[in-house]
Amino acid sequence: MNTAVAHAEAIVPRENLDFGLGNDLPRYWFKGNPYKTRYLDALQMGFPDGERYFITSVRAFRDGITDPAMQEDVRNFMRQEGQHGMTHTRYNRMLQAQGLPVDNVVREMKRILDADTERFSPEFNLAATAGFEHFTAMLAEAFFARASVTAGSDPHVVAMFAWHAIEEMEHKSVAYDVMQKVAKVGYWKRAGAMLFATWRMASRSYVTTDVLLRADGYGFWSRLGLHLRYFPWVYGPRRGIFGSLAPKLLAYFKPGFHPQQLPNIHNYPAWVEAYERTGDPLIASEALLAAAHR
Ligand SMILES: [Fe+2]
Ligand SMILES: [Fe+2]
Repeated sequence: MNTAVAHAEAIVPRENLDFGLGNDLPRYWFKGNPYKTRYLDALQMGFPDGERYFITSVRAFRDGITDPAMQEDVRNFMRQEGQHGMTHTRYNRMLQAQGLPVDNVVREMKRILDADTERFSPEFNLAATAGFEHFTAMLAEAFFARASVTAGSDPHVVAMFAWHAIEEMEHKSVAYDVMQKVAKVGYWKRAGAMLFATWRMASRSYVTTDVLLRADGYGFWSRLGLHLRYFPWVYGPRRGIFGSLAPKLLAYFKPGFHPQQLPNIHNYPAWVEAYERTGDPLIASEALLAAAHR
């Protein structure tokens, strides 16, 4: 694996993007597939409170940051995460209108994250944030490096995820740098927090997916059948959303790891170029996918 520190992307906060998401959102927007759609809806349902948790965790160390470049990165990181939170809240309202129990899920998520903030040290919360951020940056790769992953899905929702993925790649090392250089978190706390983040992400996505499928009318046995059937889609070693990321997840546990050691997806510049040219996140998303591997 290439261990040279790659050139970091500029962290560009982009505000009030219009994805054209309206009431005509197809119920099963991801390839018309109920399970995959609800799995991704579940994953993103925790984003607004997750982003708030990330911001709170980083903000706890803000006063200790003396490097102006890092101060600037943190400011841009917070602006990006703030926009992500607002956009996913709007999307969650659309899901609520479809009859999904979004309020309950979000309330539970908030309760869990507030409890984490309360019960763990600021250092551990920041280390968990750095771990979650490694995931969000990796998910960008799982979804957008190959065009076939999202082919046949609603372009508006895909464009929302694409924009979020792009910005996650841009700010992927901000929380990590604050954790190492300002909070001085050592190896074992970083590794332990990553195990915690992995377990939290994996378990919550199943719990919430199950709640959403039940609201869609799937009974216990059909839901169990779906969870088993799509287990490889999530955890398959070659093509699974999380499974395919295993080597990059393991890399995080190397003592000398830094997020910039892992290159961003090859088609990242295509999104940035198209967005700068048109200001349209749908066109940028199309450009990202046109430049993706087949
Ligand atoms: Fe985000
Ligand atoms: Fe992030």
